[in-house]
Amino acid sequence: MAFNGIWHRAQPVFSLPAALDRDWLQWLEADAAARASAERSRASMKELKQPGFATRAIHVGQEADPVTGSIGVPIYPTSTYLQDELGRNKGYEYSRVSNPTRTRLEENLAALEGGSSSRVFASGMAAINALCTRFQTGDHVLCSNDLYGGVPRLFNQVLTNCGLEFTYVNTSDTAAVKRALRSTTRMLYVESPTNPLMVLSDIRALSQVCRTKGVELVVDNTFMSPYFQQPIALGADLVVHSTTKFLNGHSDGLGGVIVCTTTEQAEQFAFIQKTAGAILSPFECWLVLRGVKTLAVRMEQHDKNGRIVADFLSKHKKIKKVYYPGLACHPQHTLAQRQMTGFGAMITFESGALSNAKKFLKKIRLCALGESLGGVETLISHPATMTHAALGEKGRAQIGITAGMVRISVGIEDVCDILADLDQALAAIP
Ligand SMILES: Cc1ncc(COP(=O)(O)O)c(C=O)c1O
Repeated sequence: MAFNGIWHRAQPVFSLPAALDRDWLQWLEADAAARASAERSRASMKELKQPGFATRAIHVGQEADPVTGSIGVPIYPTSTYLQDELGRNKGYEYSRVSNPTRTRLEENLAALEGGSSSRVFASGMAAINALCTRFQTGDHVLCSNDLYGGVPRLFNQVLTNCGLEFTYVNTSDTAAVKRALRSTTRMLYVESPTNPLMVLSDIRALSQVCRTKGVELVVDNTFMSPYFQQPIALGADLVVHSTTKFLNGHSDGLGGVIVCTTTEQAEQFAFIQKTAGAILSPFECWLVLRGVKTLAVRMEQHDKNGRIVADFLSKHKKIKKVYYPGLACHPQHTLAQRQMTGFGAMITFESGALSNAKKFLKKIRLCALGESLGGVETLISHPATMTHAALGEKGRAQIGITAGMVRISVGIEDVCDILADLDQALAAIP
């Protein structure tokens, strides 16, 4: 590789390394998994004219500290900054506006999503709220009808009171989206795959519809992470994440990010950060910076384990249905193969009844019962009473979330141990 030690900020970070000129893949011939991963990295390098994904995750914004040489990004726990004289500072004035640790994370996440810049917030919900604070009374937002439950709660119970209008549509049906757009629509807000039904939307097709209508397309990429899905390359205008999930990866901090594609968006969100203040703390920025260094290897393992667990569940006699885009029986398996470079770790299954779900969840030992997802540990949740409780029974029934559904975020433990735990807990279902 053609990188010479530390990348200082003054040097261009995105130079195409010499590795592209040679067929390194021949050295990996023997190992199919390593070859597939190298091919993905090579394709991303070619398309984006940048170093590969894992290299960007470890190096962009993560350059050694120019003052001390510290290989890890320093945490700057400061609210304010010494000014040289009135009107002259070193680029930082007050930490609600900006903080050096936060700047590093914002550079890193923009590079991973292929955006021009990013802004990080105190949680995924704070980021999603920030998206909507740009709108005015009467503006309309069209959304996927199957979203993380906290999002419609924010939209329906808080932001409609401020005069914004939200309607919901099955965004996997591009024609239905076209029909549901209004002259006042400002944003199409999409999760793909959705939470918890694992429904995909065709991001490229939606971006074409949005472009012709002058509507902004926002994709929540939390479930796939930029490692497996690149919405901006598919035409999205903005990407959001709950960094709480795969980007952090260790279930030890909340956070959210908006990845921008234009300078105007970046300025708008910087203004919202400075004005509304829901910014991510320097320590939590550092946790995400540390987490993303291993994103590529974690996602590979999540995906490997996810495929095995989905296959196991789909063949288990106690389970009625499995929702996982990597299964050939998933109605959008072909779109998943085209739009994503892996299938990830999120699986939902139907146990048949609330009583079955309860029996199963009471028995799990290695897998943890809890809200959230995307950590190294296998986490299992019950959408009807946890993530989607706010929708109410009617709201859940409308989109097909049942009381018997169980959602698994497959971790990176030894897969045999995960399977053994699921198997013994499934035995509790009559
Ligand atoms: C897909 C998705 N988006 C957004 C959020 C909200 O993120 P946070 O919990 O960090 O506020 C969640 C939370 O579970 C989520 O699953």
